[in-house]
Amino acid sequence: MKVVGVVGSPRKNGNTELLTSYALQALAEEGLTTELVTLAGLNIQPCTACMECLKEERCSIEDDLFPLYEKIKAADAVLLASPVYYGSATALLKAFMERTGYIGGRRKVFAGKVGGPLVVARRAGQNFTVAQLTYWFQILGFFVPGSTYWNVAFGREKGEVMDDEEGLRTVWTFSKNVALLVKKLRTSD
Ligand SMILES: Cc1cc2nc3c(=O)[nH]c(=O)nc-3n(C[C@H](O)[C@H](O)[C@H](O)COP(=O)(O)O)c2cc1C
Repeated sequence: MKVVGVVGSPRKNGNTELLTSYALQALAEEGLTTELVTLAGLNIQPCTACMECLKEERCSIEDDLFPLYEKIKAADAVLLASPVYYGSATALLKAFMERTGYIGGRRKVFAGKVGGPLVVARRAGQNFTVAQLTYWFQILGFFVPGSTYWNVAFGREKGEVMDDEEGLRTVWTFSKNVALLVKKLRTSD
């Protein structure tokens, strides 16, 4: 049973990466294999609507996206993590969502997997961003477990997110629920 955490911040070793590592730590404790994928430094272009992926399971854009699509396709659970940029997910993560969603959506490759959003904000835009990421999971057939609050933590400079005790607790509980659901679903296969 494997979970992949995709970090959509262009800043390496930042708050979103720390929060995702924390979530993966809770999942590893439950016996899941974890992998953190950071999109920082990768070339991931937005969808060009060429529609090639409707004919074949491929993408016409030759960049770093397709191996990541295959990675999340093979996983049992996927976390999408983003800092808030102008009240929204980052353009980098949005490009990832557009293309992985379009390649895999009609093929139903994500249906029945477990997943959910993780969001870091300095001050505002977090609720919209949680909703934005949740739409991706829901339209693709993922099961999205809950927590004790929405999966948001606050921080500005690198590392500050680890001081948000309530945010961390929320993400920890969410991650435990991801593990529980993955195990229930996989043992009933
Ligand atoms: C271009 C840009 C836009 C941002 N817009 C927002 C925003 O709308 N709301 C907010 O609360 N924080 C905003 N921030 C702050 C980041 O969300 C915050 O610093 C976060 O911790 C960065 O996460 P990272 O360390 O993973 O990159 C913005 C930061 C940048 C660079």
